[in-house]
Amino acid sequence: MTSNRTRVALRPLALACLLAGLPAGQSLAVDWSAVPAKTVTLAYAGQASWEWTLTKNDHEGAEKFRGGKDCRGCHDHESIAKDGAKVAKGGKLEPAPIAGKPGHLPVKVQVAHDGSKLLFRLQWKETGTNANQSEVAAHASVMLSDASVKEAVRAGCWAACHDDVEGMASAGTAPQEKYLGASRAKLGRSGGGANLKPQAEIDKLLAAGTFLEYWTAALNPGKPPVAGNGYILDKTHAAATPSVSAEASFAGGEWTVVLSRALAGAGPGQKSLAAGAAYPVGIAIHDGSTKGRWHYVSMEHSLSIDSGAADFVAKKN
Ligand code: HEC
Repeated sequence: MTSNRTRVALRPLALACLLAGLPAGQSLAVDWSAVPAKTVTLAYAGQASWEWTLTKNDHEGAEKFRGGKDCRGCHDHESIAKDGAKVAKGGKLEPAPIAGKPGHLPVKVQVAHDGSKLLFRLQWKETGTNANQSEVAAHASVMLSDASVKEAVRAGCWAACHDDVEGMASAGTAPQEKYLGASRAKLGRSGGGANLKPQAEIDKLLAAGTFLEYWTAALNPGKPPVAGNGYILDKTHAAATPSVSAEASFAGGEWTVVLSRALAGAGPGQKSLAAGAAYPVGIAIHDGSTKGRWHYVSMEHSLSIDSGAADFVAKKN
């Protein structure tokens, strides 16, 4: 890894490349050794949906969560590790457990920007399990939203995790794609089903920024990552042409993945990110050739650009 000093010395060269009209991809990369890292503990949550967390008979924390205490107000690394292990071994919340699957996954997270792009770097050790559900060895995903998605502020990935989504307990024969509660006329214990608000209201929500944007990379060792992105509101809208880039490497059992996109965003379903705001962030990892609910997800974390009191402050590098 380049040191700060080398990097500063190299800057004139980068400028020269720009002047020479080289593609932006050939500019110098972020110096990750200079970016602070935090470990986020992701949980294996099985069928513990948004609605499950709110239900007193199912979840011990339900009443206090309803009363205003956020997930991380009760769940720290230790509790996620303990509760996740309980879920992953199989039972009411995981009727189809994967042999040997750990109940939690620590992910080292760094966030930075280079003045034009926001970059997330995620690192984790593969679990060594293989569910054979997918030809893709792993997926690394990041979700971003803003204060208008209150569930994301308070519960991270759970904002989109409803009881009637595919693979969840109330999916039945007509599973929903991931969605936000704001898109439904009402939500019950089994989720919001097909009770969609009128399209004009959903269009308004999209225009107001009430959506959950996702970035993802499909990963196989030795192959280039395949980037994708989209947004979740009434359902999952995958972008036809990705505006997110991915880089990945796999060594010694550890994945290193960098996901990035323009700070300015690419139109509807992607926010223009600016200093001053706090953006809720969620991180999800599918490890061991899994898909759907057999993944690891994060509770609420926050991101700000340049300065602020967020979990991650993306500074210019
Ligand atoms: C007031 C504290 C509190 C809050 C807030 C809270 N929880 Fe919990 N949660 C608990 C307790 C207590 C347990 C049970 C732990 C045990 O049995 O070992 C638990 C268990 C769980 C489990 C493990 C499943 C199980 O059967 O034990 C999951 C998953 C979970 N919580 C997710 C969440 C999510 C997601 C949120 C936010 C939406 C949340 N919790 C908010 C207290 C809380």
